Amino acid sequence: MTSRASVTAGARVVAVVLAAAVVAVGGQLMPGFYDATCPGLPSLVRRGMAQAVQKEARMGASVLRLFFHDCFVNGCDASILLDDTANSPGEKNAGPNANSVRGYEVIDDIKAHVEASCKATVSCADILALAARDAVNLLGGPSWTVQLGRRDGRDANQYAANQNLPPPDATLPDLLARFRSKGLDARDLTALSGAHTVGWARCATFRAHVYNSSGAAIDAAFAAGLRARACPPAGGGGDGNLAPLEQRAPAAFDNGYFKDLVARRVLLRSDQELYGGGGGATDALVRAYAADGAAFAADFAAAMVKMGSLALTGNSGEVRLNCRRVN
Ligand code: HEM
Repeated sequence: MTSRASVTAGARVVAVVLAAAVVAVGGQLMPGFYDATCPGLPSLVRRGMAQAVQKEARMGASVLRLFFHDCFVNGCDASILLDDTANSPGEKNAGPNANSVRGYEVIDDIKAHVEASCKATVSCADILALAARDAVNLLGGPSWTVQLGRRDGRDANQYAANQNLPPPDATLPDLLARFRSKGLDARDLTALSGAHTVGWARCATFRAHVYNSSGAAIDAAFAAGLRARACPPAGGGGDGNLAPLEQRAPAAFDNGYFKDLVARRVLLRSDQELYGGGGGATDALVRAYAADGAAFAADFAAAMVKMGSLALTGNSGEVRLNCRRVN
C-alpha cells in the first residue's frame, strides 16, 4: 500500500485548520442543502453535463478544470465565472485562464435551467461543484456525494488567480506548498493531478518539457514525437496546437495518467515532477495508483470533496442570479 510518511502530523493539523478557516462561520455544507428548495437540482445538472459531454467529450475535462481553477482562488465561490467589469478585472483573463479555461457557457446553460425551476435559490458555486462531479463520472470515473450550500463570491481576484494557480513548470516542492496552502496534502495533490487523465494541453504549456527538460526526465522518443507532431520550437509558431494530456485513452477517466507518469510519457513538467521529481515524495503513490485504478478513484473522489470544502457559506456572499455578474 501507499505511504503517508511524507506528510507530518503537524502539516496535517495546519491543513485542517486552513481548510476550516475558509468555511465561513454560520453555515455548513451538507448533501441535502437543496432537498426542500430545489429537489430537481441534481438531475438538472446531470442532464446539462450529459448533453455537453455528448456534444464534445473534452467538455467534461474542461468543466473539471474550471472547478479546480475556481477553488484555488478565494475558495469554490464561482469567482472565476464573473466577467470583467470596468472596475474589476476578472479571473477569466488571468494568465493561467485566458485562452485556456473553457466551459463557461455550459455552466450558464445549466444555471438558466436551474433558475427556471428554482428561482434565486442555487448558487453558481454549487452548480459548478455538481457539474465537475458529473463530468468525471460521465467520462467513466467515480461518483461521490457533493456537499452543498456554497455561496457565490462578490469579488473576482485576478491577482490571486495569477499567484495561486500552479504553473506547468512547477517543481514538486512548489506544488506541495501550493496545495498545502489550501489544506491539501501530498496524497490530495497526487490524486487530484490524476485529472490530467483527460483533456488537452497547448504546445505553449508543454514546449519547455519536450525541448529542454530541466526537471524530471521525459522519455526521449515521446518528446521527439511531440516535437515533430505537435510543438515547433519557440518562435516557430504552433503555440495553440493541442495534444492529449494522457496517451492511452485521453477521453476516459481512468488511471492511465499514472501509468504514463511511470513511463515518463506526460506533457507537463509539473506532472512528471510527481514521479522522479525532487525528493521523490510522491513516487510511491504514483506507482500505487498506476497499479490500482480503484485506489486512485477512491482517493480522487475524497480529494475533490476536500477541495470543494473551501467555500463561503451561511450569510457570506450571495446566490447570484447570473453566474457572470454579481446581483
Ligand atoms: C497540480 C498542478 C496543476 C498544474 C500545473 C496544471 C496545469 C495544467 C495545464 C498547463 C493545462 C493545459 C492548459 C492549456 O494548455 O491550455 C491543464 C489542463 C487541465 N487540467 Fe490541470 N494542472 C494542475 C492540476 C489540475 C487539477 C488539480 C485538476 C482538476 C482536479 C486539473 C484539471 C485539468 C484538466 C481536466 C485539464 C484539461 C482541460 C481541457 O482539456 O479543457 N489540473 N492543467
